[in-house]
Amino acid sequence: MPCPCCQPPESGDYEGMFDTEWANREADAYIDHGLEARAERLIAFLIENCTGPLRVLDVGSGAGGVHHELLRRGLAASVVAVEASSAYISAARMISERLGQDSQVEYLHGDFATAADGIDSADAVILDRVICCYPHLNQLLGASASKAERYLALSYPRERWWVRIAFGLFNVYLKLKRKDFRTFVHPHREVHAIAGRDGLEPVHAETEGFWQITVFERV
Ligand SMILES: C[S@@+](CC[C@H](N)C(=O)[O-])C[C@H]1O[C@@H](n2cnc3c(N)ncnc32)[C@H](O)[C@@H]1O
Repeated sequence: MPCPCCQPPESGDYEGMFDTEWANREADAYIDHGLEARAERLIAFLIENCTGPLRVLDVGSGAGGVHHELLRRGLAASVVAVEASSAYISAARMISERLGQDSQVEYLHGDFATAADGIDSADAVILDRVICCYPHLNQLLGASASKAERYLALSYPRERWWVRIAFGLFNVYLKLKRKDFRTFVHPHREVHAIAGRDGLEPVHAETEGFWQITVFERV
């Protein structure tokens, strides 16, 4: 059990935000069209530059497109996927079964920032569009960095005025809808500082639409 005083306060209603309807829509999109461009770019660096097979930790894995593809393309040998939405876990598990990957993936339900102590480290830790859904960057990213034996691969919102406006408008919409969930454009210097503190150095950076993609490697 984490120390109560180190536990982050309320972080958001992930079950209510990423419900069955949302999760099934994302799962169908992956089945019909494959990975979105951002996710494709996120794993491209690993596929082109890393020797596998990797043990992967997919934090905030959603419907699991990233880990399904890493397994399907042979770079990952095993995956632990940690997700705060049970609907997303059901959707990802359904796809794993359909692809015959179920023996290679372990799904864990919960908040990774508070559950990380009980979770093994991995060769590659991936957070695709996750830190922008969590208010406590230091806790979530710090815990993730500490589990990355070789690589930490992230996608997160770019620090551009038009990205901030888009995320701000989405937060207004969420407030009007009385959703207990907000998005966050965390400062990139903090992202780099947290990874650097753990001995991780950036080895790849690119952008895709709204998203910054950065891969860190342990030095
Ligand atoms: C925008 S979705 C992205 C899902 C997937 N990675 C993708 O890009 O399609 C963000 C996901 O991160 C999950 N999440 C956010 N913070 C989390 C945390 N601390 N622990 C586990 N899951 C988390 C949410 O439940 C949500 O499913």
